[in-house]
Amino acid sequence: MDHANRLRVSSPRPPVWTTLAVGALLTALVPSSVRAEESAAASYKAKVQPLLATYCYDCHGEGAKKGKISLDEFASEDAMLHDRELWWKVLKNVRAGVMPPAKEEHPSPEEKGELERWIKFGVFGLDPASPDPGRVTLRRRGSGGWIRLPWWISGWVRGG
Ligand code: HEC
Repeated sequence: MDHANRLRVSSPRPPVWTTLAVGALLTALVPSSVRAEESAAASYKAKVQPLLATYCYDCHGEGAKKGKISLDEFASEDAMLHDRELWWKVLKNVRAGVMPPAKEEHPSPEEKGELERWIKFGVFGLDPASPDPGRVTLRRRGSGGWIRLPWWISGWVRGG
């Protein structure tokens, strides 16, 4: 016990706060668009992809493509982050409780929240030139999509 402790003391690792501080400093030096992409990509890997793997890949990954939707075949990370139409569908279906199908294992409310936040702020927050997911919505109008923007998106688009 003692011995192990002394060993650890003799080769100290930087405390967590140093790592965080250095990270924050580096982050501050990078243009915000790049930063946004990086953090969207990082939280995808850390949080979103594991969720999709657990709850969706059976039917939408590893070669499975139910409803012509694959959630793990992207040409690049960039393509993945910018595939708004796909993520918009994912958001709608998960929010509505349509996906995963009723008899399958469902994500917890926290997990759903995680996924929704990532789509809203990661995917749709990335492109300041066209931050309006309503455009996706409008294009999909003819196919039974949404007509009105939900409050949480319109508020957010206006910066509120
Ligand atoms: C047991 C299999 C199964 C699982 C698990 C599953 N899906 Fe699906 N999914 C389907 C099938 C079948 C369809 C196509 C038929 C349909 O539209 O109902 C579909 C369609 C979809 C669509 C397209 C709907 C549209 O508007 O065109 C999306 C998006 C989707 N799934 C997302 C997900 C997500 C996200 C998960 C995980 C949270 C998931 N699915 C889990 C079987 C599954």
